[in-house]
Amino acid sequence: MSIDIVRSVAELRARVRYWRDQGLTVALVPTMGALHQGHLSLVSAALERADRVVTSVFVNPSQFGPNEDFSRYPRQEERDAELLDGAGCHLLFAPTVAEMYPDGFATTIAVGGVSEGLCGTVRPGHFAGVATVVTKLLLQALPDLAVFGEKDYQQLAVIRRFARDLDIPAVILGVPTLREADGLAMSSRNAYMTAEERAIAPWLHRALQGVADGLRAGALAADLCPKAADGLLKAGFASVDYMEVRDAASLAPADRLDRPVRILVAARLGKTRLIDNIGAVPEGA
Ligand code: PAF
Repeated sequence: MSIDIVRSVAELRARVRYWRDQGLTVALVPTMGALHQGHLSLVSAALERADRVVTSVFVNPSQFGPNEDFSRYPRQEERDAELLDGAGCHLLFAPTVAEMYPDGFATTIAVGGVSEGLCGTVRPGHFAGVATVVTKLLLQALPDLAVFGEKDYQQLAVIRRFARDLDIPAVILGVPTLREADGLAMSSRNAYMTAEERAIAPWLHRALQGVADGLRAGALAADLCPKAADGLLKAGFASVDYMEVRDAASLAPADRLDRPVRILVAARLGKTRLIDNIGAVPEGA
């Protein structure tokens, strides 16, 4: 395996500076590791648009709540490094918690508006943790481009918001979700599921498609979403955190398909919390 791994901000900056001195463009792909094909599609998108690609792997403690899965989140750096090497990524940045949050660290990036509702309600503090670590990563690497998955659609909206608000000079690129053959969105958290739960999980995507079909037929979100959530409970989900239709750009609530919308869901299957989303556009749009 030949991919270089750096663990300090100083080493990362030195490498990026070396590339810059040669006139090369740089893309950053922030991840929490436990990489799958979905992450590798982000790396491919980055490679298409930049000369050099850095992937960061950092399980960021500040975006996990006290009762969430920080300690059991899968960590497999060696495998991640092999996958990144095979994908053509140029550098793996894998800092320690102490490197990212040294003693005395006291700053939080809090984003209003798009951080509220959906996952923001169920996971208080989550998006502040994401915004803080992604701001740091962007300032550490100073990339031309940073690539994120649409699977975390609200996260992508939060990142676009603060990048614009803070005049961060990187293009923020969203990449469509990769799915398993049965429709389940690829996610590092899929590894938590038992075989029985894994068989039920594709209902999440089917439920989203059902809402999209209903909207296309002229039905209202207020009627479709509770029915779709109920369907998930009947399929074996333990609970549904939300099933909502939102404006695709602003994430403001949307009640019908009179503009591009995003249908977003979060539900619990056993101990695993799964999220997913799909878009729908009015005919002829
Ligand atoms: O989407 C993720 O994996 C994380 O939230 C991110 C963007 C790498 C920040 O820790």
